[in-house]
Amino acid sequence: MTKLVMQQAPTPAMPRRFLLSASLWGMVAGALLVLDDGSALASRWGGGTLALAHAFTLGVLGNAMFGSLLQFLPVAVQVRVRDGHAAAALLHALLNAGAALLVVALRWPALVSPHWGGVVLGGAFLWLLAILLPGLWAAGGQRFLRWGMGCALLAALVTAGLGVLLVLGVAGTVVIAQPLLTDVHAGWGVLGWVLGLLAAVARVVAPMFQGARPAPLRMQGAWQVALYGLLLAMLMMALAGRVLPGARIGGGLLLLAFALGGLLLQVRAGKLRRVPLTLFWRCGLLALAAAAGSMLAGDAHVVQAGVLVLAIGLPLLVTGMQLEITGFLGWIELQRRCGRGVHLPGVHALVPARDKWALLGLQLAAGLTLVMACLRVIPANGAGVALLLAHAAGVLVQCAAVWRARQFERQRERMR
Ligand code: HEM
Repeated sequence: MTKLVMQQAPTPAMPRRFLLSASLWGMVAGALLVLDDGSALASRWGGGTLALAHAFTLGVLGNAMFGSLLQFLPVAVQVRVRDGHAAAALLHALLNAGAALLVVALRWPALVSPHWGGVVLGGAFLWLLAILLPGLWAAGGQRFLRWGMGCALLAALVTAGLGVLLVLGVAGTVVIAQPLLTDVHAGWGVLGWVLGLLAAVARVVAPMFQGARPAPLRMQGAWQVALYGLLLAMLMMALAGRVLPGARIGGGLLLLAFALGGLLLQVRAGKLRRVPLTLFWRCGLLALAAAAGSMLAGDAHVVQAGVLVLAIGLPLLVTGMQLEITGFLGWIELQRRCGRGVHLPGVHALVPARDKWALLGLQLAAGLTLVMACLRVIPANGAGVALLLAHAAGVLVQCAAVWRARQFERQRERMR
């Protein structure tokens, strides 16, 4: 099993800044739906829908994944992250400023040109690779894990490159096959970057924190080859101005394999831990399986598939991990401040299971309202309120963890 080397962990405030931003972006996504005029979930091409998609992909998932990488790579893979605190602070600023500019430009095109968001975000993704890839390349051991993470990082770069091209297309600077390239961009982003990274990291974290089995190496390797093979073929065909036949079915089947594979690994585990994280992942994987079903059912269901993947399934997987990391960050900070030999509160005292269950309940309720809004049973604004509350609770849980750590320090000071 992978060994965690806590001494290598970065200053806890840095990954925490990303994780907190992820929840704040969840609130922004909720607010966008609260303000919606009825168009957000109606078609995939509406400005409101595109803004919402990027509030999730860049704001919620982007922050959670950037922040987790900064924590995970040094601790679990012993990768040296270049330039430490300052580099991470710049990364955070670029990602969030770029995401905000892009979301505003997509939602309110009269306010700002999408060029700005595109340029700043292009810089954020280039910077991410510049600070992580050299260390990932140079680190020893864990080749399969490093390959998986390296492929996901390169997929992020392709996504960003295509995103910048799309922005130029939306602004009318270049003429491109917009719908065709949007599909390729979305495929590289959602499947290649987010799902690819989660699959790589899950090999380590699912056995460690949930007691689930790791996927058989060959099967996961074959899945990765099929995934990046499909994405490359889509890209090549799109550059030649053509659609890859069967791309939607292929993407749907790969998503289904990830979701059902993950569920099977949980079900077949001998010592599955009955902890909130396990249920966060089970619910997230079920939502992804439902999304795959929508994708396979045809183009008419693409908005439902998008909501199930981007607003429900992936955020559930990411939030489960975010809560575990939050506990660790608090504990590492206390250990560094108090020194060795002090009896510290456990990770689970900083983020109690009660808080995690409550958050899971709120996110599931928000997910249900989103599905109802997609089916036109309730207006999207109602789902927005539920989403806003669920992610506000996420902010509170993270702030409470910091508060508990500070309380412990204060009590210790008083007793000295
Ligand atoms: C440099 C960063 C990015 C930029 C500049 C960007 C830009 C864009 C633009 C302009 C569109 C709309 C195209 C059109 O209307 O014709 C779009 C669509 C889309 N993008 Fe991005 N994007 C970026 C990053 C990402 C990432 C990281 C993901 C996924 C993880 C992503 C997922 C999507 C999806 C799913 C759509 C289609 C949404 C729909 O069908 O409603 N984007 N992007």
